[in-house]
Amino acid sequence: MIGADVNLLLEQAFAALGAGDSARAQTLSEQIIATEPANPNGQHLAGLALLQRGDAQAAARHFEQAVQTDPNQPDFHLNYGVALEHLGRIDDAAEHYRSALSLASDHPPTAARAAANLGFAHRRKGDFMDALKAFEQALTLNPGHVGAQLGLVHILGGLRTPDHSPSLEAALVRGLGLEHANYADLSAACAHQLSLKHGLAAQPQTIAPAAISQDPLFSAYLERCLNADPVLELFLTDLRRDLILMPPDEVSDDALRTAALLAGQCFLNEYVFLADDDEINAVADLKRHLESILIKSPDADPDPDVVCRDAILYALYAPLNTLECSDILGKMPVGALGADLDRLIELTLRDSLTEQDILDGLEILIPITDQTSLAVGAMYEKNPYPRWLHAPAQQPVALAAYLGGLFAHFQPPDTGEKPDILIAGCGTGQHVVHAARTHPGAAITAIDLSKASLAYAVRMTRKLGIANVRFLQADILDLENLGQIFDIIQSVGVLHHMRDPLDGWRVLEGLLRPGGVFKVGLYSARGRETIQACRRLIAAEGIASAPADIKRFRRRILGAGPDGEDGNLAGVMEVRDFFTTSMCRDLLFHVQEHNTGPKALAADLAATGLQFIGFEGFEEAGINAAYREAYPGDPALTNLDNWEAFEATHGQLTDMYVFWCHKPPA
Ligand SMILES: C[S@@+](CC[C@H](N)C(=O)[O-])C[C@H]1O[C@@H](n2cnc3c(N)ncnc32)[C@H](O)[C@@H]1O
Repeated sequence: MIGADVNLLLEQAFAALGAGDSARAQTLSEQIIATEPANPNGQHLAGLALLQRGDAQAAARHFEQAVQTDPNQPDFHLNYGVALEHLGRIDDAAEHYRSALSLASDHPPTAARAAANLGFAHRRKGDFMDALKAFEQALTLNPGHVGAQLGLVHILGGLRTPDHSPSLEAALVRGLGLEHANYADLSAACAHQLSLKHGLAAQPQTIAPAAISQDPLFSAYLERCLNADPVLELFLTDLRRDLILMPPDEVSDDALRTAALLAGQCFLNEYVFLADDDEINAVADLKRHLESILIKSPDADPDPDVVCRDAILYALYAPLNTLECSDILGKMPVGALGADLDRLIELTLRDSLTEQDILDGLEILIPITDQTSLAVGAMYEKNPYPRWLHAPAQQPVALAAYLGGLFAHFQPPDTGEKPDILIAGCGTGQHVVHAARTHPGAAITAIDLSKASLAYAVRMTRKLGIANVRFLQADILDLENLGQIFDIIQSVGVLHHMRDPLDGWRVLEGLLRPGGVFKVGLYSARGRETIQACRRLIAAEGIASAPADIKRFRRRILGAGPDGEDGNLAGVMEVRDFFTTSMCRDLLFHVQEHNTGPKALAADLAATGLQFIGFEGFEEAGINAAYREAYPGDPALTNLDNWEAFEATHGQLTDMYVFWCHKPPA
């Protein structure tokens, strides 16, 4: 073969890789290497193809060859680093990322990638300050770098200072302005800084409502994060009361802006704050007033400032679609009542109308008949889980490369660029968005019992421009009727709500293609002891699950000091789900749930013939490192009996086990 042929093969291999055909890319690069064993580009492409196929070991050998032959190519170092990181050789990986960074000084996108990867390597080593610097460097080189934005925010979210830190506050504001970030990662750090800055733990607070909208961190926090901080919740509850009881002519523009931000937050938490009689009466007065000026005196032009003020204040307590005059508000031209009210009209009125239209046209597999499924579905019809507004960005990655990076011992299936994916129990669609962005070429089927949840999911995926999803109402128990099998199934937080989760396991195993993989999330018995204690109390006292009951129960827990009557339950406030109505209902008031442990998981897997691959999230949490030390004889970390014993001595590992398993190839 002559040089020109090799160049053609290189071009073809590169194109195959770009099209996700890693098998063809591998074959072509092997042909190049057979002709010119030292060809560094051929070695590099072979490494990339193998990395995409999840074989980091073989990929590393090829990258090493490429780097040895041509040590001045930043990409070679960069990708060698990725393979080494997959193999757990973090220091070596960091070394190659540094080389890539210095070699790519005239190519900012590559340098940014190298800096971001260096950030992740530092993070894996627990060197958070170095990670922060590396992510910042990546964002200086390429402000839109998705990984660097996510990484930076993740580190910032873990930072706490003993006193208020203006520099951390500024960094948090910047983090909340990053388009691709996961704002949920920043929520606790923001709440902590706000608490320190404004002395929120002290009683009584002196911060005026108008000052909140003038505080960049406070306003960004209310707009972008879901509060999950008990001290802040009590402060915000009082703030809402102050706003609704304020004499109307004393509500300044800044105070009204604060009210609008807080109303958005209240919509997101599904009005979970407890209100007293004075507030309830004030809201009823406002409702009457608004309806009278908008409906009952149609000839008299209402003062837009008054409409705007009253509607925003009303939205602190209820969505605007609960007003009799909601259609009039909904038809107001955008901009007529100001941006703050426009946002609330969109969130609390127009979106629900859109969902109703979607709901009416939803595809149904077959009518649901199982009694438990009907009861569970009814719960999520009332409280779709969860309400969300923002989906952090996700970098596309081939399944094999993703699983290869998570589990070095596992040889993942090559599902290509267009895997068939089933999301069983998709709720309001967050996992669907994640899957669709991770696998842009996939054909996704997403099912749930709850039409209201599905309608939310459809609306949000449409808004985000995701079009490769078929949504339908269905019970997992009936999914054989789909007449389809899948490469990937995901069911997180779902099977434990079935009468017998094993029935669900069996159906889903039957829908998995041989060699296919299954991501499951199931409640942990040890991780949910406090939650179980709350559930026992709720059952013993016969507390109902209507929103008013949920709010009263939550206030009881929020007010319980560690030594008080319910002090042993205070730990439940560390769970994010405590902080909204639907999530709290899911957490503490569920009509049907099971909890499990590693040994029981092993039994479920044995009963269905599925094989355990590994837990997700344990590496970052340092759990795998501790396990490796305790069980050096299980380097793959797959012995669930060991995990049972490890959890018994180590203490709870998580409140939900998220793990992957697979169906052996035929
Ligand atoms: C806690 S939510 C989790 C939603 C989503 N997986 C997530 O984590 O955001 C549980 C969802 O599972 C759905 N679900 C429960 N049992 C189901 C069944 N038998 N078939 C289909 N969906 C089910 C519920 O309707 C609900 O939307």
